[in-house]
Amino acid sequence: MVMVRLAEVSGMVVAGLAGFGKTMLVAHLLGQLAPSPAVQFVLVDGKGGPDYDRLFPRAWLSAKDDLNQVRDALRQVHGLMVKRQGAIAQVLGVTDAWHPGPSRSWPLVVVVIDEAHTFFHERKGTSPEVKAHNALVAEVSRLVEELIRKGRNVAIQVMLLTQRATGDAIPTRIRDNARSPSASPPAPWTGRWPPWGRRSASTPTPPRSCSTTPPTSASP
Ligand SMILES: Nc1ncnc2c1ncn2[C@@H]1O[C@H](COP(=O)(O)OP(=O)(O)OP(=O)(O)O)[C@@H](O)[C@H]1O
Ligand SMILES: [Mg+2]
Repeated sequence: MVMVRLAEVSGMVVAGLAGFGKTMLVAHLLGQLAPSPAVQFVLVDGKGGPDYDRLFPRAWLSAKDDLNQVRDALRQVHGLMVKRQGAIAQVLGVTDAWHPGPSRSWPLVVVVIDEAHTFFHERKGTSPEVKAHNALVAEVSRLVEELIRKGRNVAIQVMLLTQRATGDAIPTRIRDNARSPSASPPAPWTGRWPPWGRRSASTPTPPRSCSTTPPTSASP
């Protein structure tokens, strides 16, 4: 068994070949976190398939493989980070949210980006479409890089899942700031399947206004 400490981490790269169990590993982890009102999810699935469909209703924000939607979701998370940085001292009385620990009013925000390499791939060419695509890629890269570099103390955490952790797949300035447990071939599954099971009535769903926002009393 491999233990990976996730507290106080701002970025993680889960790398492994196709079918090695990356998505299952993270889905299992999310299933364990899901019942807690002190955790919010942002789920991005670059495969665009059904892997996360059962978890999407539990997420604050979600997107599949549409780069515009992914950029929009990451902008919102980045905006939250900036807001939290401005409010943390006043709201929590400390400068590191991990000291009191995540709570219902200041939840840990776990951002999962599966098949992350698909969002960092610049195209070659000079057509307007290519330029627009590459501008989106550049913004997504900047947002992810800043979230990993500046999000730790305000309890924002990014998990990147990828088949390759090479510099051409994940920009090195992102990868090198993140931790890297490697996914290995799947061991026999002994738990309930699928790991997060059916949504029960007791599974907390974040309110529409989303409690990830710092209390309004502290908003600038
Ligand atoms: N611990 C496990 N025990 C048994 N089977 C598993 C386990 N983890 C994953 N699997 C099986 O292995 C297959 C691949 O797993 P998963 O989709 O998580 O891989 P992946 O690394 O995300 O692959 P890809 O890169 O193609 O997305 C799945 O069909 C799943 O059922
Ligand atoms: Mg996968």
